[in-house]
Amino acid sequence: MPGARRPSSVYVPQASTQTAGRLDVLINNAGISGRTDDGAQDPTTLDLNVVRTVLDTNVFGVIRVTNAMLPLLRRADSPRIVNMPSNMGSLTLQTGPIMAAYAPSKSMLNSVTAQYARRLSDTNVIVNAGCPGYVATDFTGFNAPRTPEQGAAIAIRLATLPDDGPRGGFFDDEGVVPLVTPDGCEGRCQPAPSLPSVTELRHATESSPLASTSWNVAEQAIQILRPPDGRIR
Ligand SMILES: NC(=O)c1ccc[n+]([C@@H]2O[C@H](COP(=O)([O-])OP(=O)(O)OC[C@H]3O[C@@H](n4cnc5c(N)ncnc54)[C@H](OP(=O)(O)O)[C@@H]3O)[C@@H](O)[C@H]2O)c1
Repeated sequence: MPGARRPSSVYVPQASTQTAGRLDVLINNAGISGRTDDGAQDPTTLDLNVVRTVLDTNVFGVIRVTNAMLPLLRRADSPRIVNMPSNMGSLTLQTGPIMAAYAPSKSMLNSVTAQYARRLSDTNVIVNAGCPGYVATDFTGFNAPRTPEQGAAIAIRLATLPDDGPRGGFFDDEGVVPLVTPDGCEGRCQPAPSLPSVTELRHATESSPLASTSWNVAEQAIQILRPPDGRIR
């Protein structure tokens, strides 16, 4: 979408909403990785200016352009909005290099996608997100296995969904991308970290005097808070 680079330039496409007939499809493809030199995206040395810059394009830009285009989209019979996060934004998959500005920006874009889908759930505007996979473009220094045509396929599928198609989802060519939990990820997830049970925790810490004091305090608190029926909610 040309004109997304500066907030003021959003008014250029916005102005065309007065004259143009309608917009059938909006694909919010623009995205940047952000600087990575000097530990700029190492979480322990994170450059917050890089975070701001990346969010400005990858998230705020999408919101600006989408809201500017919505009047035109609403005039279409079957309007579709496609956002382009990345599997790197999935808390379950946690793929790719450590990039503490880029990856969270894509997590947030998924969340924003869900918010739009909910807000527009009673309209004909269908909003989803797609990941192109690891594609040979400027973005990757043209050093990735997928072609731009392969990368574009998911955007085209989501842009041409039928009227009863899914809303607010995150997909790639293999299907649903698991975002937060392993549920429904069809074997593509990393094993979920399992929490030890209270008994296991107690067993592991009972040799520590500090821990046993803490357990005593916790047990006293439970006694005080325990309601008359004895059930802890
Ligand atoms: N390539 C991958 O492996 C991969 C993987 C997962 C997700 N993605 C996502 O897929 C999308 C497309 O990636 P790509 O590989 O095609 O990247 P790309 O080759 O770097 O192209 C990005 C495009 O976004 C435009 N752009 C960047 N900032 C902009 C801004 N503020 N306003 C308007 N346009 C802007 C660029 O315009 P200029 O050329 O004028 O700068 C360029 O046309 C991105 O959102 C990316 O995060 C890519």
